[in-house]
Amino acid sequence: MRVLLSHDDLGSWAPGHDWVMDPEALALAYAYPELSAEQGWVRANFISTLDGAAAGDDGRSGSINTGADRDVFALLRVLADVVLIGAGTARIEGYRRATVRAPWLDLREGRPAHPTIAVVSRSGDIPPRLSQARKDSGELLLITCERAGAEAIDLARDTLGQEHVIVEGDASVDLAAAVDALVDRGLRRILCEGGPHLMRDLTASGRLDELCLTLAPTLVAGDHPRITAGAPVTANLLPRLLIESEGTLLGRWAKP
Ligand SMILES: NC(=O)c1ccc[n+]([C@@H]2O[C@H](COP(=O)([O-])OP(=O)(O)OC[C@H]3O[C@@H](n4cnc5c(N)ncnc54)[C@H](OP(=O)(O)O)[C@@H]3O)[C@@H](O)[C@H]2O)c1
Repeated sequence: MRVLLSHDDLGSWAPGHDWVMDPEALALAYAYPELSAEQGWVRANFISTLDGAAAGDDGRSGSINTGADRDVFALLRVLADVVLIGAGTARIEGYRRATVRAPWLDLREGRPAHPTIAVVSRSGDIPPRLSQARKDSGELLLITCERAGAEAIDLARDTLGQEHVIVEGDASVDLAAAVDALVDRGLRRILCEGGPHLMRDLTASGRLDELCLTLAPTLVAGDHPRITAGAPVTANLLPRLLIESEGTLLGRWAKP
């Protein structure tokens, strides 16, 4: 693994030096900034092929990822207080409540052992595997909007408990308000794992602080989603970090 570019102080892992992709080095490279009690930081994490596909032929991102990406994916969850996920991705990828395992557990010291999953849904329909309780795992929140309707919202409250359902926005979830609601709950380090429609809306909300983007060294052609989908929106990001590991490029891009 080689650091190609870094705007942060990585100590002995400065650009140009090879280093072992151990948990300590990675945690330093991907550390969240220092945040005050009222501040949140919204980071998104995606993988794309060289030709821009965000999923492989099976319609999932698992078929385009690499070992280095899996390591970073796991680490980013460990560093986060809450994982924000679109209901579409949660259904397609079979999301379950989050569980942190060795060798990462030490990095959760002083915090709940597992991050919360916050699933964003317009319909208010909790993805099946997320609605199931899971031993030794993090909490589940549903973030929905008025469009879901009273019946679906009441059902979600009955299933998850009143305090685990957040309603923000009318036709869609107001993601700026949703981020504020998470920060109010002390969930300040926010990690959005997609998918493309949620990423588009998050970008439009102006609350995206950082994109962690893995570039897999593969071409797949075909018709696949990109990492964003939906109506046009523009956000400019600057590179903070670029790492190469066995052909995979791992980058952090942040708001100027
Ligand atoms: N390459 C990667 O890193 C990566 C990451 C994630 C996903 N993916 C891929 O992306 C594909 C899925 O794409 P997608 O765009 O359908 O995923 P998505 O954004 O996760 O799902 C769309 C659904 O999420 C909910 N949603 C999103 N934004 C919302 C908003 N602002 N307000 C209310 N609800 C909102 C709605 O759920 P309801 O239907 O419940 O109303 C909507 O139908 C899959 O192929 C997956 O493998 C790739």
